[in-house]
Amino acid sequence: MKGLILSGGKGTRLRPLTHTSAKQLVPVANKPVLFYGLEAMGAAGIGDVGIIIAPETGAEIRDAAGDGSRFGVSIEYIEQDEPLGLAHAVLTAEPFLGDSPFVMYLGDNLLRDGIVDLVDTFRTEEPDALILLTPVPDPEHYGVAELNGEGRVGRLVEKPKEPQTNLALVGVYMFKPAIFDAARAIEPSWRGELEITDAIQTLVDRGLRVDPHIVHGWWKDTGQVQDMLEANRLILDDLEERVEGELVNSRVEGRVVIEEGARLERTTVRGPAIVGRGSQIRDAYIGPYTAIGEEVAIEKAELEHSIVLSGSSIRDLEYRIEASLIGKDVRIGRGPALPKAYRFVVGDHADVQIL
Ligand code: TTP
Repeated sequence: MKGLILSGGKGTRLRPLTHTSAKQLVPVANKPVLFYGLEAMGAAGIGDVGIIIAPETGAEIRDAAGDGSRFGVSIEYIEQDEPLGLAHAVLTAEPFLGDSPFVMYLGDNLLRDGIVDLVDTFRTEEPDALILLTPVPDPEHYGVAELNGEGRVGRLVEKPKEPQTNLALVGVYMFKPAIFDAARAIEPSWRGELEITDAIQTLVDRGLRVDPHIVHGWWKDTGQVQDMLEANRLILDDLEERVEGELVNSRVEGRVVIEEGARLERTTVRGPAIVGRGSQIRDAYIGPYTAIGEEVAIEKAELEHSIVLSGSSIRDLEYRIEASLIGKDVRIGRGPALPKAYRFVVGDHADVQIL
């Protein structure tokens, strides 16, 4: 069995971060989202993994994930010229996948309980496709599966106005090679993409067996800022305490990780929270559900429920920063001069809110 991780796409909903970087590399609890998927593959014993990359961000993904050995997998990179849909990505990977069954994992998704169970079920039951579903309170916002009398998948509906079930499609699927013909048979949707739901529906319509697999541990698609923060919260909730950095007149409370080389002075960190290698934090408060990356400088500022990427600095703020996603090498601070004013140099599609 092989693995396919989709790490191309445009990532428009995560702009401006995705102007300069792949969304699958945005860190959740200081680890790129993509790495959780690669670890899940390794844990499920899937040795050969193909990663779909986009021309713009492919090099960065290659640099980050390398040959895969540290995840216990071997990686082959597959360039998709244009993000023409998940089913298009599957067709792009056909030469790599050949006639092997495979698990397909969206590179911006996080699944708490991994894929071991799913892969085991697929191996024993041998359906033509196995799709991961999870009960959600608002199925109208998702692709939803309807089951038939035998408990198999009978119909897939994108964002139904009147959902017949609360079972949403999670971004992990298992397929036999019949999916290639199905993907070739479909037409682009209204948004111009070859949709994987249409390809799966084609399998059903052709009388092939598509089984549901319900997950109960949490699942998160990190496509938008709020989801990213929520994923960060969920991962940090399982954090194991580890303080390796230096604490000077500082206090850490609860589940906190302070990486080696980080230094805290007159600072309180209330977990769950993580402070990355080499970060310098002075006269500050780091509140729950905050992930501070590497080499970040924070002085006279308070943060909570936020993600700060590496190399950024935050200084002299009057109010607490919350629910924020701050990119790499960003500087936020206060100048000494009067008159008091806001002065911004922000990239395209940034979102600044003064509350
Ligand atoms: P999406 O989040 O659905 O698409 P996107 O990355 O283009 O994001 P946005 O809607 O914000 O513009 O994609 C899910 C995952 O699949 C994500 O990791 C990107 C990847 N992907 C591909 O690799 N190729 C594709 O053609 C598409 C559409 C997505």
